[in-house]
Amino acid sequence: MTVLSEEIRDRIRAEFPKYPNKRAVTLPALHIVHDTLRAVSREAIVEIADLLELHPAEVHDTMTFYNFFKTEENPQGKNRVWFCRSISCMLRGGEELLENICQKYNVTPGHTTEDGAVTVEFAECLGACEGAPCILVDDVCHMDMTTESTSKLIDEL
Ligand code: FES
Repeated sequence: MTVLSEEIRDRIRAEFPKYPNKRAVTLPALHIVHDTLRAVSREAIVEIADLLELHPAEVHDTMTFYNFFKTEENPQGKNRVWFCRSISCMLRGGEELLENICQKYNVTPGHTTEDGAVTVEFAECLGACEGAPCILVDDVCHMDMTTESTSKLIDEL
């Protein structure tokens, strides 16, 4: 039994013409698999490598270099919330915000709430320092966050 469905494989193959060679499709393939399965398992790495005609270690190296992709041991929740920990956000209460949220939802950075709804992550500067402290919720940046406004957002997820 394979981990990657035919639909996932087709989406990866659709990337081939956009790049000079199959190796260059490693990151797009990892994103496709991660977005769909919320993790990239060892089996998925082997199957991606097979599709791209690479050694699994090469795919694994790329995957672990970015520290973005979750593994089967620690999969991503339904939503991912990134807390900026760079200087502007830190000076305006970002650390306390993260601490309060982690305490409230009983989760630690890099991990997912027990109900699988939210994965909490550290982020470096989100490029919205004027609105510090900032968080990123599924690709949308939210500025001037407080524990209350962040909790409200998370509760809606
Ligand atoms: S320091 Fe947080 S957005 Fe720039």
